Amino acid sequence: MTSSTVLELPRTRVPDPVDAPTLRWGILGPGWIAQRFVESLQRNTAQEVTAVASRGLTRAQAFADNWGIRRAHGSYDALLASEDVDVVYVATPHTAHFDCAMAALDHGKHVVIEKPLALNGAQGRAIQERAVALGLFCMEAMWTSFLPKFDVIDQILEAGLLGTIRTVLADHGERFETDHRIYDPALAGGPLLDLGTYPVSLAHRLLGVPSTVVALGQPANDMVNGQISAVLSWAGIAQASLNTTILADTPNMASICGDKGMIVLDSTFYRPGAFTVRLGDGRSARYDDPVDGYVGGLAFEAAEAARRITAGDIESPVHPLDAAIATLDILDEIRRQVGITFPGEG
Ligand SMILES: NC(=O)c1ccc[n+]([C@@H]2O[C@H](COP(=O)([O-])OP(=O)(O)OC[C@H]3O[C@@H](n4cnc5c(N)ncnc54)[C@H](OP(=O)(O)O)[C@@H]3O)[C@@H](O)[C@H]2O)c1
Repeated sequence: MTSSTVLELPRTRVPDPVDAPTLRWGILGPGWIAQRFVESLQRNTAQEVTAVASRGLTRAQAFADNWGIRRAHGSYDALLASEDVDVVYVATPHTAHFDCAMAALDHGKHVVIEKPLALNGAQGRAIQERAVALGLFCMEAMWTSFLPKFDVIDQILEAGLLGTIRTVLADHGERFETDHRIYDPALAGGPLLDLGTYPVSLAHRLLGVPSTVVALGQPANDMVNGQISAVLSWAGIAQASLNTTILADTPNMASICGDKGMIVLDSTFYRPGAFTVRLGDGRSARYDDPVDGYVGGLAFEAAEAARRITAGDIESPVHPLDAAIATLDILDEIRRQVGITFPGEG
């Protein structure tokens, strides 16, 4: 490759998470993602995790002992009532996001809620209304949006290097054993909320609200959906082809294709990782991500929340609630077409 074919990539504008002002965090739900979140904060930020709550004190205490957290609570309400928590991280299953988020806000706590923000668009709007009414910060923990690599991609797009985006391809598929909560209909199981949120959120981030959604699905068993393919259309402009499954491991890649070039994100596209830019004029570039894995990546969303809360903001412009709600609206439409309802939806 000659030097004339090498494209120079912009540097990320995302600040180092360690420089964000320190807030006191409380964790609701000491499960899989909560462990990685706490490890990421402890390794990469100045944030202080002061409390953890479980529905059972033994589990909270074990988590607290493991991570050196001062206070363990045997109920979520006890943590929410405590004085030494500024912001609550909701790390419960999707079905509990709404109640946990509303309770945190009603106790006067800022809140960062694991993806998806809620079960559906209506719940998402209710959370947003409550946060706005109380003047408290609220953000979906869509960690992808805060990663340095996505800021580099944003700059490539803002510079018009890809031209007009015409095609987006994205999938997130992972084969799960049937004893995982993703197979539990009572916890809104199936791939859509856990995995499908990522490709849908990416398509919305790139192209906004689609004019048409067409989806097909297949069941995993007689209790939960197994996989979904959806085509989203922005009439006369672009289409996205998205896939999600719990029945097979898939490439987990994404491609953003414009009329002047493309970006191909390596697997796993929504995590820290590399991507390649190829332009129609022959120039190309490879982005190798200095950030690594969950522990490297989750710190960025927490740092963004800490900076915004300290500044008195109630949302993050990097990933506003409207974006999380628009993603839920698309997921609602996909579910309507495939015939999926969640607990409490009737
Ligand atoms: N950002 C990411 O990359 C990422 C990755 C994985 C998951 N997530 C999201 O994080 C959330 C949690 O996922 P996870 O994999 O961490 O789940 P998990 O390992 O099952 O942990 C969830 C925790 O929530 C608590 N909980 C509250 N109500 C519950 C209920 N009705 N049934 C079961 N547990 C309940 C449990 O703690 P106690 O019973 O002790 O209170 C449990 O430890 C999901 O919404 C998921 O979408 C995000």
